[in-house]
Amino acid sequence: MATRIIFAAKKSMVYQFIETELKNHYLTISINREDKMNALNSVVLREIKMAITVAETNDEVFGILITGKGQKAFAAGADIAEFKDFDISEGTKLSRDGHDVMNTLENCKKPTIAAVNGFALGGGCELAMACHLRVASSNAKFGQPEINLGLIPGYGGTQRLVQYIGKTKATELLITGDMISADEAFKLGLVNYVVETDQLFDKCYEILDKVSNKSPQAVSAIFACVSDYFNSDKNGMNSEIESFGKRFQTTDFIEGTNAFVEKRRANFRK
Ligand code: COA
Repeated sequence: MATRIIFAAKKSMVYQFIETELKNHYLTISINREDKMNALNSVVLREIKMAITVAETNDEVFGILITGKGQKAFAAGADIAEFKDFDISEGTKLSRDGHDVMNTLENCKKPTIAAVNGFALGGGCELAMACHLRVASSNAKFGQPEINLGLIPGYGGTQRLVQYIGKTKATELLITGDMISADEAFKLGLVNYVVETDQLFDKCYEILDKVSNKSPQAVSAIFACVSDYFNSDKNGMNSEIESFGKRFQTTDFIEGTNAFVEKRRANFRK
């Protein structure tokens, strides 16, 4: 069992099963249960949520990267040992809590990238899908094997997998529990890039560097509008119209348009 206590960016905060590192304005969150394939127990999930919440309000953080410690796993799912004896109400709570963490990630105002460095199964695949973008190393494997346990995905997998790869293939993967390679995940549109293992973080930083030069206010507005496409309580087109209008009163809009007129690069992070 991982017992190292890691100090987070905020000195007052300690984590048991994740490590956080703030470097060049990017916060890396590493799940630190290598001996258990980085399985997501309730502490890991709680700590990920806490780290995201802290990062969101920390002006030093421009973007967030989530990965798993070691060479084998991003995360091999929810912790089976933890939920093995659960009843209906405990199972429902497990799923509700998991959804809450995934929604926190998906709704994060700062860009989040999953650096998938091995198995991303069950809750691990769901965690990767809750990030805005996914970069996979060539040895990564994706799947929702809950069916083999007589279960179904509980952290949004039946919904986000359909959103990303469509109903036909998603249904097949959900009912067979088959694993797919990084290349197949790329072909299906589940991941943005596949790179060699030693290039994984560089590729993530390259993307974050590009996005960090754009308007943070507009980037977070885009995340919200894209999410609303999939939110049955919202009308995405109306969200876009309202959000577009609001841009005209933002400091980033003033900077962006002034920079254009003055023929210089916009500096959104003065
Ligand atoms: N929950 C709890 N423990 C897990 C786990 C999970 N989801 N996935 C792996 N582990 C543990 C194993 O129990 C084992 O622990 P032990 O050494 O104390 O016995 C350790 O991690 C190593 O896993 P192991 O199965 O021996 O490694 P492997 O290389 O043979 O296989 C996997 C790797 C990922 C294919 C396999 O571990 C697996 O199928 N995991 C479960 C995936 C799953 O069903 N996820 C959905 C859960 S809802």
